Amino acid sequence: MLVDSHAHLEMDEFDGDREAVIRRAQESGVDCIVTVGVNLEDSRKAVALAERYDMIYASVGVHPHDVKDIDETTYDLLRDLSKSSKVVAYGEIGLDFFRNLSPKDLQIRRFGEQLELAAQLALPVIIHDREAHKETVEMLKGRREGRGGVVHCFSGDYDMAVSCLDMGFYISIPGTVTYKKSGTLRDIVRKLPIDRLLVETDCPFLSPEPERGRRNEPAYVAHTARRIAQIKDLPLEDVERVTSRNARDVFGIKTEAS
Ligand code: NI
Repeated sequence: MLVDSHAHLEMDEFDGDREAVIRRAQESGVDCIVTVGVNLEDSRKAVALAERYDMIYASVGVHPHDVKDIDETTYDLLRDLSKSSKVVAYGEIGLDFFRNLSPKDLQIRRFGEQLELAAQLALPVIIHDREAHKETVEMLKGRREGRGGVVHCFSGDYDMAVSCLDMGFYISIPGTVTYKKSGTLRDIVRKLPIDRLLVETDCPFLSPEPERGRRNEPAYVAHTARRIAQIKDLPLEDVERVTSRNARDVFGIKTEAS
């Protein structure tokens, strides 16, 4: 049993074979997928997908790349979407000072507004941080009470990870942990307690080895879990069980009655 805590199954890349992708995920032991909106349109698609499949849940929000397109109606529409019982988080939101596809000041302002909205909606947040580690931690420290959440595709250093844990956040580990150059991330995984880690694909992006270079999909989260088991010298079953429990806890997803 595995939870892919961060996928983008609603994206066009899956339009040709989405059914098959979902079936392959199930065949690899993935029993729950959180598919994450990056703008209003994709958030709508994510919710529609979650309403069609029991095992899929959705998150709604506007990615830092897309915050330049937020207008006076966007937050109301996202608020409406979040009323679906399949919406379990708000995001992905945050800061991306690597690509800067929206201006920095605007990213910071919209991040603050969306943290506030998530708190009003009582949803945990999914955080995107690229080359904005210091600012991201400051923003999270400064927010009003909220439900905690996940720092997705973690790329900070160990001190940042500890700050996030101290604030009650979980850290989500992507397929990059399998890459040769990701020594720092592996070191962080080694040091952090397993009961604060999640696994994710961020598909269609960031395929883990040995699938690197191909389109990523939820089934491949198994490679990431296996690598984490090696790094932490834990049985694979423990990594699967604990990271799944963590994901279900943070997103408030009940386990299937058994
Ligand atoms: Ni993502």
